Amino acid sequence: MNTAIQAAATAVEKAPTKIFASAGEASRFVAQEIAKLIKDKQKNGQNAVLGLATGSTPTGVYAELVRMHKQEGLSFKNVVTFNLDEYFPMQPTELQSYVRFMNEHLFNHIDIDKKNVHIPDGTQPVEKVNEYCKQYEQMIKDAGGLDLQLLGIGRTGHVGFNEPGSSRESRTRLITLDRITRLDAAADFFGDQYVPRRAITMGVGTILQAKRVVLMAFGEGKAGVIQKAIEGPITSAVAASFLQEHPNTLFVTDDAAAAKLTRFRCPWFSTSVDWTPEMIRKAVIWLATSLQKPILELTDEEYNEAGLQDLLAQRGGHAYDINLDVFREMRESITGWPGGKPDHLKRPGDISRPTDRIFPKRCLIFSPHPDDDVISMGGTLIRLVDQKHEVHVAYQTSGNIAVFDADAIRFTDFARDFNKLFGMDTSQIDAIEQQIEEFLKNKKPGQVDSPKIQSIKGLIRRGEARAAGRDCGVPMEQLHFLDMPFYETGTVRKKPIGEADVKIVAELLRKVKPHQIYAAGDLSDPHGTHRVCLDAIFKAWDVVKKDDWAKDCEIWLYRGAWQEWEPEKIEMAVPLSPDDQKRKRIAIFKHQSQKDKAMFPGSDEREFWQRAEDRNKETARVYDQLGLPQYAAIEGFVRWYPKD
Ligand code: F6R
Repeated sequence: MNTAIQAAATAVEKAPTKIFASAGEASRFVAQEIAKLIKDKQKNGQNAVLGLATGSTPTGVYAELVRMHKQEGLSFKNVVTFNLDEYFPMQPTELQSYVRFMNEHLFNHIDIDKKNVHIPDGTQPVEKVNEYCKQYEQMIKDAGGLDLQLLGIGRTGHVGFNEPGSSRESRTRLITLDRITRLDAAADFFGDQYVPRRAITMGVGTILQAKRVVLMAFGEGKAGVIQKAIEGPITSAVAASFLQEHPNTLFVTDDAAAAKLTRFRCPWFSTSVDWTPEMIRKAVIWLATSLQKPILELTDEEYNEAGLQDLLAQRGGHAYDINLDVFREMRESITGWPGGKPDHLKRPGDISRPTDRIFPKRCLIFSPHPDDDVISMGGTLIRLVDQKHEVHVAYQTSGNIAVFDADAIRFTDFARDFNKLFGMDTSQIDAIEQQIEEFLKNKKPGQVDSPKIQSIKGLIRRGEARAAGRDCGVPMEQLHFLDMPFYETGTVRKKPIGEADVKIVAELLRKVKPHQIYAAGDLSDPHGTHRVCLDAIFKAWDVVKKDDWAKDCEIWLYRGAWQEWEPEKIEMAVPLSPDDQKRKRIAIFKHQSQKDKAMFPGSDEREFWQRAEDRNKETARVYDQLGLPQYAAIEGFVRWYPKD
């Protein structure tokens, strides 16, 4: 049997896992378990000893615990806490310190006795760290051991900062951070070069001694490592896999983080499935990609061997009929006319779509940052313009935190020389330039920029978006800079979206009255700007959905710079010719502040244009391998259907 099929057929989940539709629901569930533990202990006059984690994952749990304290009177007087880790070296007052994180997210808002709070001390002299770590272990023991340890998981599989290689017996210690972990933390530190190389972390052995361990993971980005931790072998290469040996552990995820578990990837191996068209598409594409064969060549025997007897039987035992259905659906998803094709341009064999009747259309593309439009759907954008639709682009945030200081100075310099050149008074701008230089000279890594510098950086990105828009042929008055307020904190951590954000989006929708909306569909990226921007669009849609124009409006989701939709989900595949690809690339190049080296590249060392090209080529390769036409590149979209 093919090895990919065999692995799926024999996969088992080796640790209990609870999966929720959203990170919010999952967080409330975990917060309730913690609250129950605290209350049970209170009844018995005992302390509840909690092991706590930082990072984006547990913030929802902390928010819920704070809510319970404020609204339901949950008291933390009997709670003792031990945090998993802290960067080393690290002052507790620094922006990135876990002391500050815990205070901001939890401790400042509850009635915990601060002397019951323990967080590894990043200010210890290096020669004393070993001794300090032993004391930390002793303090946990003296407190009676951890009743419940809360964990996130890093993409390296780390729990705490137990990077690959950490043994099952490891204890609280100083550890060198993995390259991937440092890249993931780069955003918080304003550049990977500022991320500390080391951290103090509880060991795997320390964690496994907790009476209960709850590991949470949210978002597509965690799906791969969650699959390894739950279904993979127990290995020090993935520290979280040691939890499989813990007698009282629970993995808590949202749908997206669980997506690569075999029960979701190939549910037919573990349960009887409802063969909806989407499930059939998923099964057939999985079978064809596992066997590296075109869909139309899959045989009855191959369906049987891959656990798909049930599907085959339902369709009269003929693989070819199923193959043909899926092949046709996929073929019909391919269109070079994303805004629809009017009847007078149709050629024999063209497929009619219900929305063809409105032509040209008003299309509104939402771009969370100023470059997402061209990175993620530049080819489609150019097509829409070329095909004479009225294309608007709405840049949702200023993107100002991702501009290097040197660029702010360079542009201020330019503004001064420009004024001088045309005989304008430069005294004011001289003063501004001086302030800026002074500020930046004394700026520490990660320090928030002054409001003036934030505005200048926003302007730089605005100019780049205009240049790219010009390249794509979008009239300047159809570029909308929304500068949504939730983003304007000057730091990576943003405010939650508020009414003002939703109002701005709703007003634009009402102004443009689009027939098509395109939005970044990163549905479960837990704290990312894309997710928040999408939420704002959904909330604004609720405000406008009864408007007359809204009944003719279709909403398409593209994926951000990081990931593509799974091929079975793609409902519109827009092929790009080599020439389209070139035009798209040139538009991306206009985002000069993100070129060569971006401030927040994530853990991918390729430039944004390279990621976009690789991704579009890969989608085309998958279509080709499935036996569909061979294109140079494809941009994929999924339709979002409002609930009512
Ligand atoms: C944090 C910690 C880490 C994080 C992990 C996931 O105290 O020990 O193991 O839990 O890196 O981070 P997020 O939640 O930001 O994805």
